[in-house]
Order: sequence, then structure tokens, then C-alpha cells
Amino acid sequence: MIRTSPLPLEDELGDVLEKGMRRAGLTEEALAEATGVAVARILDAVDYRSELTCDELRRIAGVLKLNEVGLCALGLGKYPQPEIGGLPFCVWPLRMPHGIGVANAYLVSECGSNRALLFDTGAGMDALDAVWPGTIRQVDAVFLTHVEAEHAGGLCEVVARFGVAPEHALVPGGAVAPCGRPMGEGERRAFGALEVTAYSTPGHTAAHNCYVVRAPAARSGGSLLISGDLIFAGSVGRAFYSGDQLQANLQRMLTVCLGNTVVAPGHGPLTTVENERRFNPFFV
Ligand SMILES: [Fe+2]
Repeated sequence: MIRTSPLPLEDELGDVLEKGMRRAGLTEEALAEATGVAVARILDAVDYRSELTCDELRRIAGVLKLNEVGLCALGLGKYPQPEIGGLPFCVWPLRMPHGIGVANAYLVSECGSNRALLFDTGAGMDALDAVWPGTIRQVDAVFLTHVEAEHAGGLCEVVARFGVAPEHALVPGGAVAPCGRPMGEGERRAFGALEVTAYSTPGHTAAHNCYVVRAPAARSGGSLLISGDLIFAGSVGRAFYSGDQLQANLQRMLTVCLGNTVVAPGHGPLTTVENERRFNPFFV
């Protein structure tokens, strides 16, 4: 089971439109021209004051090649957030304020155990301590999705605090991270009943991993996709490195994972692969 409560999405309609225009290489003016929607209405929407109708959003989705159902739902403030459950292990989302936003890390453990795997490390140990569950006393391994301050700042402190073995402090191949060793595409690590597989998913940054956590011996229950800043509920991360690679990796991860896989993003609420296949504006 997962301890969580409803959370706002990481991205609003304005963010999604802005990312969509960037992906398509279109300005607000060019989008207005191509859709027949007044440029002032597009500018308002990008500025978080949307009055766009679903009909207008459908035209915009057509030009920007976005999922029109998801875009309309976002525009109405009704993006679906699925029920989360059915995992054969326990997950603690650690939500840490950072700047004007919130960055997520995750602890994953066999339920009832006081030992866990940690995915991302927040800005530092102080941020982690503020949200750390009292039941978890030991970290057997730590995995980074990518090296940015709000996701990776605490790596060396976590390694020191818990005495994590150097070969169990894992980062994406090519990442510059003191205290971390590279874990590349398709590599697997097992810790007790839990198995972690790395997927190399550049796009947001050049070095970026997603991780799939499974309990192979469990007779039922799904998997967990730690998606970093590749997939958010209702959006994607910013393409600092490569928009094309980000798009390809979004399509790949939402295709290779089963629909009941729980998605645990670097920002915003949990979701599922099925939900994002149906509604994520960027999955086409
Ligand atoms: Fe981030």
C-alpha cells in the first residue's frame, strides 16, 4: 500500500501548452494562425489565465499533436488521477519543498521491514529528515534518476549516514555524481524480494534513468516505475537536453510497462501507466 493524499498536478494547462509549442517549434502567433484561436486567448492560457474551451483546445491539440482528451481535461481542471494501489511492496513518497515547487524522492521496502531502497535524495539530508518515516532505519541502496540539486543533493550524505556500499549507490551512466556508480540500460539489482531494473531515458537531462521496481516472487500485484523528470501525471519534464529523445523515451516507457504499473514522478502526484496512456497530453 502507498501512503499518499491527493496533490495538485506539477503542470497546469499553461505549462503544457508552452512545452507543446516548444516541441512543435511554434510561437503563440503561429499557433493562433494554425488553429484560428485568438492569440490573446492563447497568451492568457500560457499565463495561467485560460478561458479556452474544449473545442479550442481540440484544435490546439491537433496542431501540437497532443492528446486532446487529456488537454481538454487539464483545461477544465479535471485531469483524472487514478486510484493507487495493488503493489506487492510498500512505497513512501517523500515530498520536499524546493524553491517554489516540491521535489519527490521515494522509499521502497518489503512491507513490515525497516530496510528500504531510496530513489533520489532531495536537496540534502535535512530535507529528507523532515519527511523521513520513523519505521525505516536502514537504506540498502540508493538510485538517482538524474543529477539536479533538488533530486541528487543528498546522495553523499545518505551514503555516509547509512553506510551504503559504494556499489549500491547508483546513478545514470554519464552522470557526474560524487559517491555514485553508473547503472546503465537493462542492468538489474536485487535486494531481498525487490528487483530494480534501470532504463536509460535521456531527454530532460543527458544522463537520466528511470527505474522499474518489481517483486518477482509475488503472486500478484504490479510494478513501480520511478520516472524522474521524464513523466509527470499529466505532463512531461522540460526537455533541457533533447526533446526528441524525451518524446521517444516517454513513448517507450509507457509502452513497455504494463498498464497497472504505478508511476512515481520526480514532481507531482503518483499516477499509473494506464492513466497516462489514456490522458497524458504528450503520449500520442
Ligand atoms: Fe526536477
